[in-house]
Amino acid sequence: MSNLKGRDLKGVADFTAEEIELTLEVSRLLKLEQKLGRPHRLLEGKTLAGIFETQSTRTSISFETAMTQLGGHMIYLDENRMWVGKAAEEDWHDTIMTIDRYADAIAHRAIMREPLEKAAEYASIPVINASCPVEHPCQAFADVMTMQEKKGSIRKAKVALCWGYRTANPPAGLTNSLMLMAGKLGFELVVACPEGFDPDMNIKTGADKEATESGGSIRIVRSYEEAVKEADFVSIYSWVSPAVFAKGLETHFKGDPEFQEKKKKLASSWCVTKKVMGMAPRDCKVMHCLPVSRNNEVTDEVLNSPQSIIFDEAENRLHTEKAILSLLMGGYR
Ligand code: CP
Repeated sequence: MSNLKGRDLKGVADFTAEEIELTLEVSRLLKLEQKLGRPHRLLEGKTLAGIFETQSTRTSISFETAMTQLGGHMIYLDENRMWVGKAAEEDWHDTIMTIDRYADAIAHRAIMREPLEKAAEYASIPVINASCPVEHPCQAFADVMTMQEKKGSIRKAKVALCWGYRTANPPAGLTNSLMLMAGKLGFELVVACPEGFDPDMNIKTGADKEATESGGSIRIVRSYEEAVKEADFVSIYSWVSPAVFAKGLETHFKGDPEFQEKKKKLASSWCVTKKVMGMAPRDCKVMHCLPVSRNNEVTDEVLNSPQSIIFDEAENRLHTEKAILSLLMGGYR
């Protein structure tokens, strides 16, 4: 019996290692049920309010599909659907309190962390982080599930998380969530990124503490070579540091010209190519959470190679979200 019913998932930080393993176990069970064509309508008649402040291909579609397969329904809510911040001047509190009376859970993709924290504070129903600048827990669950499928246990596995150049400037949420996963589950995470692009060091400190017990480790290095050597998985992602992100949305999404110009100098050396993969073991798998900027972060040749498992990873967003929803909404006990 799990004690996850009614809980929020604001981040990997909220779950113990046992709760993460339970969620992954339920993900595998639900994936099997779906592959066997066995109905698993654990959330019959339940509604998920999916609030998306940005575009989303994988997260929005996988959450919506998850609710359908579980016998429930997701309502997609973006800024055009709600009054919040619009002419009616409805505030976030009243929006969330209203949704709380209709829906059974909220999945929230938030441009900034505070509205997610506030939604969790106001709502009596579970609030799930569908990506915010601090964490992207749902992606981290899918990544770990995918790695376990390919390798069995990932305790002591080596995962190289390689920063790749792209013009867009997303936050370091996934990097932060993967550092927490490494600390809790006991795998080796080596983050290769240029100076000035480090993820959240407070989160790293917390993850380091957990790693001392789990046997995991988290290191930040400045070269692909050090990261990919002996790696079981090479995952590519692009992010900016929390300090750069905090400078403001206009700056980080559209790109302050000075910052973009400086960043452009990294383009030639921070792309995962076949040559980079040549420094990794031959059976090393390639991952990317997507969307990817092809031939900027990582080449087509690498993404289309037999080592690439990017679409298995995308598929597992569905299965892990079904487990998260079922456990938090009380469909699976
Ligand atoms: N990986 C991920 O979160 O993708 P979307 O932005 O398309 O949801």
